[in-house]
Amino acid sequence: MAPSQSPPTIRAGMVGLGMIFEETYWPFFQQALDEPLYTRKTGPVEVELTAMASRTGSRASAYLRQRAEQGRPAPLNCTGPSAMSALLGSGVDVVCIATPDDRHFDLARLALLAGKHVLIEKPSVLRLDQLDELTRLAGEKNVLARVVYHKLGDPDHKKLRTHVHDDVLRHVNNGYCSLLEPKSISGQQFAEWITGRNPGTYVAVHYIKLIDFTFSLASMPWKLKQITATGQRGLVGPALGPTWDSVQMQMTYAYPDGREAAFDIHTSWVTPDNFPGYVEQEVQFRFDNGVWNAHQRKRGVEVTVEDRSPGELKYTPNHHYNGKFLEPWNERSQRGYGVEIIERFFSEVAQVEFGGPADQRADRLEAIRATDYADVGGDRNTVAAVQALEAILARHAAGQPGCVVRVNDPAGGLVLLAPGVATPEVLYPGCV
Ligand SMILES: NC(=O)c1ccc[n+]([C@@H]2O[C@H](COP(=O)([O-])OP(=O)(O)OC[C@H]3O[C@@H](n4cnc5c(N)ncnc54)[C@H](O)[C@@H]3O)[C@@H](O)[C@H]2O)c1
Repeated sequence: MAPSQSPPTIRAGMVGLGMIFEETYWPFFQQALDEPLYTRKTGPVEVELTAMASRTGSRASAYLRQRAEQGRPAPLNCTGPSAMSALLGSGVDVVCIATPDDRHFDLARLALLAGKHVLIEKPSVLRLDQLDELTRLAGEKNVLARVVYHKLGDPDHKKLRTHVHDDVLRHVNNGYCSLLEPKSISGQQFAEWITGRNPGTYVAVHYIKLIDFTFSLASMPWKLKQITATGQRGLVGPALGPTWDSVQMQMTYAYPDGREAAFDIHTSWVTPDNFPGYVEQEVQFRFDNGVWNAHQRKRGVEVTVEDRSPGELKYTPNHHYNGKFLEPWNERSQRGYGVEIIERFFSEVAQVEFGGPADQRADRLEAIRATDYADVGGDRNTVAAVQALEAILARHAAGQPGCVVRVNDPAGGLVLLAPGVATPEVLYPGCV
């Protein structure tokens, strides 16, 4: 038998150790210590969390304690204003960014400039010029810049897309999506950074991406045409201030044959904490030949445990997204599409770096980039919708409600029109 060589290792740096890190990244990094990634092309590839960066480091201490108790390797704990440079200087290959969304761009830019592969939580960035810069840097540095939209990995959404691509569900015409977060999100979880923010950017983006990715067909290439939005204030912040309780937006697409499709997306982060859905989610899409209805609470389990629901144990848990299980073979696991989508990114990095001869790396990189479900290059319409939404809400808060943003208008790529104002504001001059 040939002497065994130790497998290559992807060293990961994590920026932001909040809720989403706890739910999805941490279980992935823990599991990666037990089992390397493996494909026939790459062979075994280890993934190790070697550095963490956050503002105070207090949550990091809890993870470090856990690792110490388990006798497992301790990542470097980088904190304070120099946290990012310490993380980048520590020799990581990959940087995952899960900070509040208005901080994604600066951090992702630094990581790309340092030549690291990057994974960013949704929404990738808030403006198209920022997306352009990240796409350019990823190209220049020959690395991946990817975004996590875990709803694309939900088995129900995969089936929806399969039906659309197999021509079972034909030609979507309109639909609605609703995602309502509990008050604890705006009141506690995000209280520190919520001023001036809105729940649309935070969660409508899940559905913006789902719609844009699922229904775009090479055979009928639709184009994003228009975004409108309104919302309500007065609970999270003052009634006339810049912080939003709930947001309703509409996106319109145009098909090449002149037909159109429109989608309403309603979001909130002031739903009562004891509402049965906890995060209440529902969609309906209407096609030429069918209707697709999905409801998070109605597809699965309902459970109540005295003194433990709905805080610790949700009334209607989504075990497909993320669950801790005792497997039939008596091993403990934590799995679901929230974790799988992170694993998928690392297996894509492994494919680029170790999936074949070094002189074919550029081809492998291009092949992964072409899977645009997660690539920053495939995120243009989503970021355009987010930028439009933010601009419309900012105008509304400044006393000018009812603005409309047109996409790829003669005046520019993203053009904001205000009622009664003759001159439009060009939010983004280039083509979306
Ligand atoms: N995929 C999903 O469904 C999902 C769910 C929740 C959150 N998210 C996304 O994940 C991101 C984080 O959300 P969260 O709920 O985990 O937030 P959170 O508020 O719980 O945690 C944010 C973390 O970022 C750190 N941080 C803030 N600014 C930083 C900086 N400049 N440098 C380094 N660290 C910094 C904080 O210390 C904290 O550890 C957001 O983009 C959000 O949209 C995604």
